[in-house]
Amino acid sequence: MTKCYPTVSEEYQKSVEKAKRKLRGLIAEKNCAPLMLRLAWHSAGTFDVKTKTGGPFGTMKHPAELAHAANNGLNIAVRLLEPIKEQFPNLTYADFYQLAGVVAVEITGGPEIPFHPGREEKPHPPPEGRLPDATKGSDHLRQVFSAQMGLSDQHIVALSGGHTLGRCHKERSGFEGPWTTNPLIFDNSYFKELLSGEKEGLLQLPTDKVLLSDPVFRPLVEKYAADEDAFFADYTEAHLKLSELGFADA
Ligand code: HEM
Repeated sequence: MTKCYPTVSEEYQKSVEKAKRKLRGLIAEKNCAPLMLRLAWHSAGTFDVKTKTGGPFGTMKHPAELAHAANNGLNIAVRLLEPIKEQFPNLTYADFYQLAGVVAVEITGGPEIPFHPGREEKPHPPPEGRLPDATKGSDHLRQVFSAQMGLSDQHIVALSGGHTLGRCHKERSGFEGPWTTNPLIFDNSYFKELLSGEKEGLLQLPTDKVLLSDPVFRPLVEKYAADEDAFFADYTEAHLKLSELGFADA
């Protein structure tokens, strides 16, 4: 779909740039890039292409959405961001949470993802149950990413590389441990670890492992493990798309 971005005022654009700098400081100070990326993704990943509901529109600040089981722990991200958000009352939460996701990737050594401001805030959170279930297989991933969100197989594999950052917390998801040995660095090590098999101290979710068994996903895992530039290019495209689901569609 072609995008037709809204024009924002010069003042709004200035606030975006300033907020970006403040976010860099906060994320570096708190080492919270993984949580911020998860916040941005869980905000956007509820988009439903058929009903045009859900998506990156700032609804995650509502207690009702934070109470969804898949969002366990994201109240911490919302709380950490609040003191910066208060300094920029003119920014929408919709833009602000997606900006935090872009900064999280950039500050950990990942690619620079283009950011277009102008998302509106939506009043109603999406229903629960739209985010992927880590215990399921490739049919489920395609149901959520392709049928519901409107993304492609390549987007699924590239975006799964987001697990290069962070870890699972037993008290949040029931799983425990990081995917890589350097969970605060955004690189292609997620794919290298996936191919090298299970290792003491590292974790692979069932939905990570299906990337190896599916005949369309696997060649992409191999490509990204061998070529970080290819991963960064495809990740940038996929993250940009994710962050703009339902936004600026002509
Ligand atoms: C493919 C389907 C996916 C499933 C089933 C899934 C599942 C999970 C689970 C269970 C956790 C652990 C949460 C916790 O216990 O703290 C997690 C964490 C995380 N996910 Fe995903 N995820 C998926 C896709 C993605 C995508 C597309 C991104 C971003 C592009 C992403 C980024 C992250 C990050 C950065 C964390 C670490 C959070 C932290 O360290 O606090 N995930 N994911």
